[in-house]
Amino acid sequence: MLVLGIETSCDDTAAAVVRDGKQILSNVVSSQDEVHRRYGGVVPELASRRHMESIGPVIDMALSEAGVHWSDLEGIAVTRGPGLVGSLLVGVSAAKGAAFARGLPLVGINHLEGHFAAALLDCPELQSPFVALVVSGGHTNLYRVSGPEDYELLGRTLDDAAGEAFDKVAKLMNAGYPGGPVIEHLAKEGHSDAVCFPRARLGKGSLDFSFSGLKTAVVHHVRQQLGPGGEVQGGKIAGGALSHEHIRDIAAAFQEAVVDILVEKTMEAARRCATAQVALAGGVACNGRLRACAVEEGRALGIQVHYPSPQLCRDNAAMIAAVGDHKLRSGRKDGLDMDVISRWKEHLSG
Ligand code: KG4
Ligand code: ZN
Repeated sequence: MLVLGIETSCDDTAAAVVRDGKQILSNVVSSQDEVHRRYGGVVPELASRRHMESIGPVIDMALSEAGVHWSDLEGIAVTRGPGLVGSLLVGVSAAKGAAFARGLPLVGINHLEGHFAAALLDCPELQSPFVALVVSGGHTNLYRVSGPEDYELLGRTLDDAAGEAFDKVAKLMNAGYPGGPVIEHLAKEGHSDAVCFPRARLGKGSLDFSFSGLKTAVVHHVRQQLGPGGEVQGGKIAGGALSHEHIRDIAAAFQEAVVDILVEKTMEAARRCATAQVALAGGVACNGRLRACAVEEGRALGIQVHYPSPQLCRDNAAMIAAVGDHKLRSGRKDGLDMDVISRWKEHLSG
């Protein structure tokens, strides 16, 4: 079965063609980074406008790269939520239009379910049950995945997502956008023990996360280092400056604090679920330090850590098509009256 996947939940316009839920024939992503860079974060209005310009060409490109025509497709899967409402509407409207015009079945997909599917698509050795850490600009959630459509939320962030914290810290230091790759790059040359930032454990046994205190600690530290005349305004340094060396040390110490907590709680979740399989997914799972620490800690505990390639960690439509394949096969379809679910519950229960 050939399924077209469409994903526009945040700031990437993506379309992909996947055969039988496994073989990726094309996976096209049009990034909007240059649109949002000057604001240091995603501007929802600009995101939906850019999706409208890109969605048609991106779908055409996904079909042509896959070497298939509309008439070869057997279904369309589209991200229905969670995400930015204006962004979601562009993808869902495009999917409905195409489904109606071509007489194809349509199915709406939960974006988070897509992220687990990405791990399964790219890591064939990954076996259920496993613990999945979905860590991106919008989410930091831990799940027990027992099988297709059988998930349990174990923990989630109570405030900022980990990727959001990376983006805010990079913005604070005027280091660039998106923050994750920029911080990772700076951290390589920095000393993570130069500053000790707090790790929020949230009480014994909690699998929830909190990153806003860490972000505030970084702001305080930066303010102190800037000295007299130094100022932080609108979330970034507006007076005074830090040395490049200092920026690298802050990046390394911040990244270490995030990675420590992510790895610690993920391993605790695996222990509690009595599974030796862990998958990392979402944009932050591209982070080399996170991957290395999780693998190392996993090795010490007898836990295998899997992560998809960077293209499948970040938002993409192949993961949406893969979930869609499973749902369409089990007879699931949505009508042309399907609406977006911007704040879809993290419990994934619809
Ligand atoms: O999954 P994704 O592409 O989109 C969302 O659903 O949010 O994730 C984007 C997030 C951004 O916050 C970005 O800064 C972060 O993932 N990210 C990283 C890295 N690459 C992307 N964070 C840390 N290290 C990276 N190498
Ligand atoms: Zn995502």
